[in-house]
Amino acid sequence: MLPPYTHLIVRRDGPVEHVLLNRPDVRNAFNEDLIAELTAWAGAIASDTSVRVAVLGGMGKVFCAGADVTWMAKTIHYSEEENIRDATNASQMFGALNSLPVPLIGRVHGAALGGGAGLAAVCDVVVADDEAIFGFTEVKLGIIPAVISPFALAKVGRSAARELFLTGQRFSAARAREIGLVHAVVPAPELDGVIDVYIKEFLGAGREAIAAAKALISVVSALPIESAMPITARAIAARRVSPEGQEGLTAFLEKRRPRWSDA
Ligand code: COA
Repeated sequence: MLPPYTHLIVRRDGPVEHVLLNRPDVRNAFNEDLIAELTAWAGAIASDTSVRVAVLGGMGKVFCAGADVTWMAKTIHYSEEENIRDATNASQMFGALNSLPVPLIGRVHGAALGGGAGLAAVCDVVVADDEAIFGFTEVKLGIIPAVISPFALAKVGRSAARELFLTGQRFSAARAREIGLVHAVVPAPELDGVIDVYIKEFLGAGREAIAAAKALISVVSALPIESAMPITARAIAARRVSPEGQEGLTAFLEKRRPRWSDA
């Protein structure tokens, strides 16, 4: 699928791509169409080397109210195979966003509930307004936070997951920050200013280095230390002889900015 999208608004600002979920009437709940578009968008970003940072937000009153309940309810008419294929598409959307080679900044205002909290979990940095509410609310609907669980667990850990997945309770942005789902909490008018500070940090770093660091976190966190050690040695060995690594190291020694900083 190629842009223009129906359920996404995409804006490019130099090396920064902004994408907004655009189903405000249902609080940006995602159905199969939005899932297909967001997956396609992630694929396009992953292969576009001119993008260095992406920002994910939502149109209207809230960031995202999670999976579209109308869509989920109608799966009663699907065969088991269709039902699993449908859920797999959602799982792949989260996976594609999670493994983007560029940093993904979540801009959360209003609410991030159910799969909306899952979207926050696949972002590298989340900036939330101080009145935003969060929740892994699925059990309140008799379902479970299944496809988001690998990503949410990686962010909040088992203890918070056991409390929050099982109660389905809504919680504050301050609590979301305490458990690692959110990184900065500010009054709504300050959201974009804080996001700009993060963008500036990311643009000061090497694009390939960021991608390699992101991949490293994913690989190393899934391994015992002894197995990770040789992988980490190979990873830094590759980076320091790479053109980007050489440029960064040389720029430091020559007391100048690396070339990518001026992009
Ligand atoms: N799926 C489908 N429709 C949804 C939705 C969802 N996840 N979340 C909200 N909507 C719809 C509502 O049904 C309503 O539709 P209507 O205008 O036809 O009545 C519309 O969006 C606005 O919702 P409303 O609750 O009136 O908006 P609000 O701004 O007062 O509150 C939320 C926003 C997000 C706090 C609230 O909608 C909510 O709690 N949604 C459910 C979130 C949830 O539990 N998600 C988990 C899904 S697994």
